[in-house]
Amino acid sequence: MDALHALQQRVSVPQLTGPNITNEQKQQLFKAALRAPDHAWLRPSRYVTIEGDARISLGQILLESQEDWTQLSKIKQEKLQNMPLRAPLVIVAICHVIEHPKVPRDEQLLATGAGVQNILNASWALGLGAIWRTGDMAHNEAIRTTLGLDKDDIIVGFVYVGHVNCTLKAPPELPQADFVRAWTPSKT
Ligand SMILES: Cc1cc2nc3c(=O)[nH]c(=O)nc-3n(C[C@H](O)[C@H](O)[C@H](O)COP(=O)(O)O)c2cc1C
Repeated sequence: MDALHALQQRVSVPQLTGPNITNEQKQQLFKAALRAPDHAWLRPSRYVTIEGDARISLGQILLESQEDWTQLSKIKQEKLQNMPLRAPLVIVAICHVIEHPKVPRDEQLLATGAGVQNILNASWALGLGAIWRTGDMAHNEAIRTTLGLDKDDIIVGFVYVGHVNCTLKAPPELPQADFVRAWTPSKT
């Protein structure tokens, strides 16, 4: 697929399905992720894959981490349990922030965000669908613990990757003039 076409036409895909993402496809995704820009080559980004029955276990952990979870309605319980089942592959993108005199935390987070965007674009270029989500799971202590994260790890997102299972929306045509302007030095 033409690179510009992929970059300009990609849309997020909220409904995804199997078959499973192959090892070769995963390698392509992470090759793209690891080519993201990264100030001072600190390599702050980490990626954890969750597939198959591991997704069921994660959903259970998410459910049981809720206060008084047995009192939740069946619908709410199922919603929580099924969150990781929304795609055959869930990639947790994590930024392991380190202290650096020239590279502040925000720049390290942006580097991981760029890695996520590369995964979204690479998925699209492979003919797959993907969506970047955060939501409840990104801020959940039990999820952080089960993923083995430490205090310097920040979950930047959960990237759901699979095969498109819905009608794709058309990419919006945003008027560039609303977002882009040329600066010219004022003559004084
Ligand atoms: C950091 C970040 C977190 C997001 N979290 C969620 C989320 O939790 N749930 C959701 O439905 N969309 C979330 N989104 C938005 C989608 O990923 C997507 O960008 C949005 O649906 C617009 O679709 P588009 O990418 O096709 O323009 C998030 C986006 C970003 C950048």
